[in-house]
Parts: sequence; structure tokens; C-alpha cells
Amino acid sequence: MQVEQASVLEALKVVQDPDLHRDIVSLGFIKDLAIDGGRVAFTIELTTPACPVKDLLRDQARAAVMQVAGVSSVDVQMSARVREAVGSDGGRQAVPGVKNVIAVGAGKGGVGKTTVAVNLAIALAKSGGRVGIIDADIYGPNVPIMLGMKTQLTTDGQKIVPAEKFGLQVISMGFLTGDDAPIIWRGPMLHGALQQFFREVAWTNLDYLIIDLPPGTGDVALSLSQTVPVAGAIVVTTPQQVSLADSRRAIAMYKKLNIPPIGIIENMSYFVCGNCHHEADIFGHGGGEQMAIDFGIPFLGRIPIYQPIREGSDTGVPLMISEPDSVSGKAFMAAAERTAAQVSIASYSRPTIQLTVVK
Ligand SMILES: Nc1ncnc2c1ncn2[C@@H]1O[C@H](COP(=O)(O)OP(=O)(O)O)[C@@H](O)[C@H]1O
Ligand SMILES: [Mg+2]
Repeated sequence: MQVEQASVLEALKVVQDPDLHRDIVSLGFIKDLAIDGGRVAFTIELTTPACPVKDLLRDQARAAVMQVAGVSSVDVQMSARVREAVGSDGGRQAVPGVKNVIAVGAGKGGVGKTTVAVNLAIALAKSGGRVGIIDADIYGPNVPIMLGMKTQLTTDGQKIVPAEKFGLQVISMGFLTGDDAPIIWRGPMLHGALQQFFREVAWTNLDYLIIDLPPGTGDVALSLSQTVPVAGAIVVTTPQQVSLADSRRAIAMYKKLNIPPIGIIENMSYFVCGNCHHEADIFGHGGGEQMAIDFGIPFLGRIPIYQPIREGSDTGVPLMISEPDSVSGKAFMAAAERTAAQVSIASYSRPTIQLTVVK
């Protein structure tokens, strides 16, 4: 007996994507459906490789198809194709070779922006995403230090070639300015440098390009917002009131600049004593989550204070490389998965162009 394609698709409609709240058939996730008698094979193409429920979806899909009369075996492959959350508009042209630009910012310096940017980027890359990072912190370009890189920029004759480390494509303001050289940026210069990073770098096939922004509510964010479509900004805060107050201003700024805030990460959230495992809320408790609720922005997670995070920043081996299975490593991974989910959700809420066929 030959199983019908329609019965398989009908059965698969019970499987829902938990973030998009729609079934995987109407979302167009089912690819390469092949049926040979009672043997069914297909691929589920997700919108991000960083999907925490990948295995669950596969199992649900297999179980659903096994229920169909006449089916003797089900072979499910998993794949992912990241979608663009925002496209070019008016003056903002998409970055060649990049699907989604994600900014990481904060009101304050020292809250762990760069640490979060670097570890999120590595977490996304470890999930199978193609990831780049631009260190746009003109005052403290720390990405090369945290990734343990010393790089001179090279070109392929036409474009600047991004440096590579830990599976990331990397460009830093630090590559332009050198280690200790002071540089006084004027607005147009800054705008020009950022433009160059977007237009004249040979980014290849990136799902996510993370931008580590300087602290404050400033020029770089403005320039960014005028230059490229940004999928969203992640705001990093620590739990103390002074940091939260600055973060609120940062969120208001992103909204004004038409950069959607896609999540809040509370860093240095709590400290776990290495001896007695007591958890201490050194900087306070719950502020980041409350802010997320107040603004209606997803809370992406809390990262504890953990000495190896600081050590890794100094030695150039980020925690996602040295201890991905630690509590902090898992927290970074969960935050990365939630970030990827937000980008997927945004990609489905894009206004779609209705094509009318005139006969
Ligand atoms: N969760 C954490 N636990 C321990 N140290 C941290 C943590 N987050 C950041 N740090 C350390 O705090 C310092 C400031 O972090 P950094 O990422 O440079 O902040 P920013 O980019 O916001 O200025 C660095 O030395 C970093 O290693
Ligand atoms: Mg920094």
C-alpha cells in the first residue's frame, strides 16, 4: 500500500513550533518528503540551529507519522535555515553576506557587555549557526583581548577579510587603532568606520552578526541605526539600581532609533559560593526581569558572577570555550537560544508583500 502524501502532512499538523505557535506544516518546515510504500522520509527545516527543542520536535513528528495507516518506518532529518528578521528599507541597506544584525548594548560600561557578546556569539556558533562579531566599542575595543587575538587587517584585493577565531568572523575597532593608541573619534569618522565594517568587509554567509556597542546612549548606536536594518538590540544590565536606571534609558533610546529591543540579560546576577554553594545576590535581585516585564521585552536570562568568566576574559579563552557545561555556560547557551528564537519570531511578523495576479 502506498501511503498518501496528504495523510502524512495532515498528521504532522499536530506538531507545533513552541515559539511561533503554529504547526510545522503551515510554517513550511517540512522539506523533501519522500514516500516509498510504507516508508516515509522527510526533513524538518527549523528557523535556527539553536533550537532547544529540536529533539522533541523530531520525536513528535516521528510519532505523529507512525500513527498514519500503512506507515512502516519514518526517517526524520533535522536542518535549519535562518531567516532575515528585517530587510532593507529606505536608507538602510542590508549588510552583504549577513542575515541578521544583533546589537549588544547597555547604559553602563563594565556590566559585561563584551563578555556577553562574545559568549553569546560562540554559543550561537556552537549550535551550528554562522556567526560574526563587530567590536564597535571605540572607547574600549576589548573583543580581541577576550578572544585572544592580535590581528592586522588583510584584504582579498577588494574587501577586508574578517579575522577568524573560535568559529567566529571578527572585526574590531582595535584592529584599526592598535593596542594603546588613543584615538579621538569625530562623528563622521565614526560613521565612516562603521560603514566600512558593514560594506567593505567580506562577511560570508552569516546568520547572525553581533555588534558590541560602546556604553552610553551615543553616536555609535545612532550611526548603526542609520546605516543598516538591525534585527534587534540585547540590553545587558546588572541588578543594582544604578545600572537598571541606565538600562532603561538605553531601551528608550533603541526604541527611538527604531532598533527593536529583543531582550534583556541580567549579568553578574548572583554569586554561588564555591565552598558552601550558598547563592548570594550581591548586586540585588530580580531587577532585570522586572524591567523586562515593565517594557514588555523578553527576559533572556541571568548570568551568575563566576570567577572563570573574568579569568577567561583576561586570558582570551571565553567561558563558552573553557567551561561550556558550567552553570554559567548553560546560562549563556540558554540566552543564545532565546535570542535566536526572538529573531525567528521577528522574521515571521515582518509585513509580507501581497502579490496580486491580474489576469
Ligand atoms: N558574570 C561574570 N562573572 C565574573 N566576571 C565577569 C562577569 N561578566 C563580566 N565579568 C568581568 O567584568 C569585567 C567587565 O566586563 P566587560 O564585558 O568588559 O564589560 P563591558 O563590555 O560592559 O564594559 C571583565 O573583566 C569581565 O571579565
Ligand atoms: Mg566592552
